[in-house]
Amino acid sequence: MAEKTNPPVILGHNLWGTLTHHCGSDLHHHDVADGPDRIYMDYNATTPVDPEVARVITDALTDAWGNPSSNYLPGLKARDIIYHSRDTIARMVCGKAADIIFTSGGTEANNLVFHTALEHFRKSKTSAQGDMNSEQLNGSGSLPHIIISNVEHDSISLTAKHLVKEGKADVTSVPVSKVTARMEVEDVIAAIRPTTCLVSIMLANNETGIIMPIKDICQRVREVNKQRAASAPRILLHTDAAQAIGKIRVDAHELGVDYITIVGHKFYGPRIGALFVNDLGTTTPVYPLFFGGGQERNFRPGTENTAMIAGLGKAAELVNLNLAAYEAHFLDIRCYLEQKLLAVFGRDKIHFNSHFPGSDILPNTCNVSILGRGLQGRRVLSTCRRLLASVGAACHSDRGDQPSHILLSCGIPYHVATNALRISVGRCTSREDVDIVVEDLRDTVEQLERMS
Ligand SMILES: Cc1ncc(COP(=O)(O)O)c(C=O)c1O
Repeated sequence: MAEKTNPPVILGHNLWGTLTHHCGSDLHHHDVADGPDRIYMDYNATTPVDPEVARVITDALTDAWGNPSSNYLPGLKARDIIYHSRDTIARMVCGKAADIIFTSGGTEANNLVFHTALEHFRKSKTSAQGDMNSEQLNGSGSLPHIIISNVEHDSISLTAKHLVKEGKADVTSVPVSKVTARMEVEDVIAAIRPTTCLVSIMLANNETGIIMPIKDICQRVREVNKQRAASAPRILLHTDAAQAIGKIRVDAHELGVDYITIVGHKFYGPRIGALFVNDLGTTTPVYPLFFGGGQERNFRPGTENTAMIAGLGKAAELVNLNLAAYEAHFLDIRCYLEQKLLAVFGRDKIHFNSHFPGSDILPNTCNVSILGRGLQGRRVLSTCRRLLASVGAACHSDRGDQPSHILLSCGIPYHVATNALRISVGRCTSREDVDIVVEDLRDTVEQLERMS
């Protein structure tokens, strides 16, 4: 299910009311006569398309409409755009162009990895039959085993759940530490079985922004791989970097992963995605989910979506050029937001659900609870006049007042998690926006407290 914002926005004919968002140097207003000015702070749910990205997409739709597989000029033009986008996207994760497969989005990229892991296990098992002992090959031990964390996005956790339900895999969902909210390396290593074929842990959590120690996990799993080389399938390493890309540096080789999920609409790009595969087809396997016309070297066939690929490339180029500035801006605004919240509500009334000793957070993400009766996150947001934010992963926005299972998993007490607001700032969120939003929250809390 997609990340989306909560529904209770006051609506005119435009879903967003009068929404202000800015990106690049432009400021955009989508005006609606009857809506108050809304300030969007839900950039972990999705980002607007950067105007430069939109321009590139429009140009490609007009000028590069040819089939990229055709050998005359319109086709060659489309092919050239795809070639350059692939290269730019690869550079964003410090890989090479040949490592990139375009997908419809993050969900497909994640599913492709899981499908690949199962096929990889099946093939390794067949070739290593002589080496594996009978316990590994028979009974429950013969199913491929996958390790995930208990705070993954639904596109990972529900894929895993489905595989278990179908009897196709065993899955261990390793709980994050309630002290650090991180996946602890030793817990991952302890979960490894002889049949483990995939470790898939997100790089940064979409609700808390907590950054997972992927580099350390990969280092340790690679040691296990060395020891088990001949007798068991190599454990493939995947990270879903949907939330990290465009906010912090992501270097595939430094992390030591085999696969990285890339999601365009989280970094001001279009709603397509890509999968980075380290030395695709040579060092790291990919088994396709689809079969067709040979595009993407048969790893993901289907006529390429040239315009969106062009837009994804442009969005990646902006990240490559400006990441340090984006990161510094996010951090400045988030810290200012946190200071303002503390100043206005006082230390006793504010709990930051992302602050854990020793853990790093995405620079743009503030998960906060305003403590008190009647201040449930959904209630607060539906009363706010200016702020547009969410209570957590919006895939779960239909769960009434139930708190986020992610926050509970991180050890946040039930009554605190119930009041959680996920406020995620963007490239052009200003300190003035923060002032307005905090004032809006203060008015809202006063109003709700009077009512209860
Ligand atoms: C961490 C994470 N992974 C995967 C996805 C899914 O991406 P998409 O909606 O493009 O399929 C999201 C989107 O919300 C996400 O936050």
